[in-house]
Amino acid sequence: MSHLRHVLSASQFDRPFLDRIYRLTNKIRQFDKSKEGLMYLQSLLPHRRAMLYFTQPSTRTFLSFQSACHILGIKNSEIRDTATSSEVKGESIEDSLRTFSSYVDLIIMRSPVRGLCDRVAAMLDTSDRPVPIINAGSGPDEHPTQALLDIYTLQRSFKDFGGIEGKSICMVGDLKRGRTIRSLSRLLTLYPGAKLIFASPEAFRIEDDLRTFLKSSMIEFVETVNFRDAIAHSDAIYMTRIQDEYDVCAGESSKVDSSQYCLKSNQLKEMKPNAVIMHPLPRRTELDPAIDKDPRAKYWRQERNGMWTRVALMTTLLGVDEKILLPEL
Ligand code: CP
Repeated sequence: MSHLRHVLSASQFDRPFLDRIYRLTNKIRQFDKSKEGLMYLQSLLPHRRAMLYFTQPSTRTFLSFQSACHILGIKNSEIRDTATSSEVKGESIEDSLRTFSSYVDLIIMRSPVRGLCDRVAAMLDTSDRPVPIINAGSGPDEHPTQALLDIYTLQRSFKDFGGIEGKSICMVGDLKRGRTIRSLSRLLTLYPGAKLIFASPEAFRIEDDLRTFLKSSMIEFVETVNFRDAIAHSDAIYMTRIQDEYDVCAGESSKVDSSQYCLKSNQLKEMKPNAVIMHPLPRRTELDPAIDKDPRAKYWRQERNGMWTRVALMTTLLGVDEKILLPEL
């Protein structure tokens, strides 16, 4: 992979890149164990500034990126609502982003607009301030940094069980509009022998472009409406909520019967003993809170992994990754 300028899509990542990011992540977590280690991390980028431009709601992606900035000593600014920026006066998104680039060294952005990150990255690349862009969620399209933390969580969960290779990963729920599904599926093609099971109502099946990509990558995958039958065969169950914010008309999602795409505590006995349960969160009723106590539930760890993998990603983009990989602890 050539040098990473922006992070726009999971399809930019190859296996050597992932392996390196996860080595970095593990090393960063080691640094976190001591005050000296944390102070070392904070000394790496105190001269850098980041913009968090999140015009679509977020809790964990926003906070984990903000915390990652704090860990590295990066100062951050934020806009979370266009009603408080000059966009409300009619400024274009492109001009707004170009303005941020005048003040910061990195832009982390979430937007409901599919493809906006790519447009902004292309525009900045021809400007005199070509600062890196990180896609923190682009409409129903991609969430590449979520996929990074998802793979890290899977890898750690299967560390003593032969790794991700050869495992069956069942993704459940709104697979049509769930951007985490799209990015994670792409990365799983990098793990030989991994098999994907897509369990969803007919109306929320994966999109054609993802299906075409998976066929071309030779990964084994099946699509089913029968989640119940998939439970016993899965090594990982990745639950997702219905993404009704993308409904074209009011109440569209509620017309689809999604009641069979929930995981209840009474179904835990059907799962393999070493299987894992994941969810990008936030959840609604598709994942029973009573499951939180089961050792196979990894979603709280998964969201915390988001902070560490995002620290690793930012050190790579901003060129201080070697300063983490090299020193002995
Ligand atoms: N997983 C995820 O993107 O969560 P938030 O919407 O809370 O950031």
